[in-house]
Amino acid sequence: MSYQNLQLTQDGKLKHFLSIEGLNKSILNDILDTAESFTSITDRTIKKVPILRGKTVANLFFEASTRTRSTFELAAQRLSADILNLNINTSATVKGESLLDTIQNLEAMQIDMFVIRHQDSGSAHFFAQHVRPGVSVLNAGDGQHAHPTQAMLDMFTIRRHKQQFENLTVAIVGDIKHSRVARSQIHALNILNTGQVRVIGPQTLIPKDCETLGVQVYHDFDQGLKDVDVVIMLRLQKERMTGALLPSEKEYFQQYGLTSDRLKLAKPDAIVMHPGPANRGIEIESSVMDGNQSVILQQVTFGIAVRMAVMSMIASSSENEQ
Ligand code: NCD
Repeated sequence: MSYQNLQLTQDGKLKHFLSIEGLNKSILNDILDTAESFTSITDRTIKKVPILRGKTVANLFFEASTRTRSTFELAAQRLSADILNLNINTSATVKGESLLDTIQNLEAMQIDMFVIRHQDSGSAHFFAQHVRPGVSVLNAGDGQHAHPTQAMLDMFTIRRHKQQFENLTVAIVGDIKHSRVARSQIHALNILNTGQVRVIGPQTLIPKDCETLGVQVYHDFDQGLKDVDVVIMLRLQKERMTGALLPSEKEYFQQYGLTSDRLKLAKPDAIVMHPGPANRGIEIESSVMDGNQSVILQQVTFGIAVRMAVMSMIASSSENEQ
């Protein structure tokens, strides 16, 4: 079964949210527009709407997370869902239970939506293939494959600052190879018809077939940064690196660290983004991270509204199906 068929209902609505690949521009714009309407809720004193009242969402994190896990939790709470946070370190999977057994046991607790982060690429799709009809799966990051809600909150942040995508040049910088965020961002930027998408990094950290994704590859940071509207910095994912892919952190910073001097090569109103967690002094200078072009903390805030949007769209499509 293709990713597209798995994610969408027969009339093209969101059933699961597994990857940006296979979605079209109108769904992505729907997510952004719906998220826009939810940002006003998060600003209110009473931050709740009843869209998921009576539904149970399970947060299933097999890998560490701060931002993604807590903003999914807040999003579910603000939609009035009951939320179950599963501590996987103490759960049955470490005692040898298979993923399939875990799914079946959780389903027996009548969960309506699973938010899953897992170290294996493809795990969210596997989950979606095995849950009962009417139960939905949201991918919160699977291996090096995809992190679709992160990409959508990044698109939301870009649209908020730049209004459109068609005339923009966006650069994604650093460890593209191990980044599920970069992969999802590239798909989203292309679907939204972004003027130009560049990836910048050392040869060892850029996948060989990267150009086939519709991006321009640069190994020279200064060249790649010239006149960009948006700079997205990525963390060096050392936990996923096997062998020596890098000279030293100091040298990496010299070549690929975003300093305030370097940032002058981009357009004067360029915004600086980072999905977090950021390594200060390795891929980004502290003064840039805290500087007035940085929208890094806004990304975190927008993550709540974007996750509310995806959950509510899924809830309305599963209601129509029943
Ligand atoms: C990213 C992830 O987990 O893929 N972080 C996030 O979700 N905010 C990126 C990273 O770990 O570097």
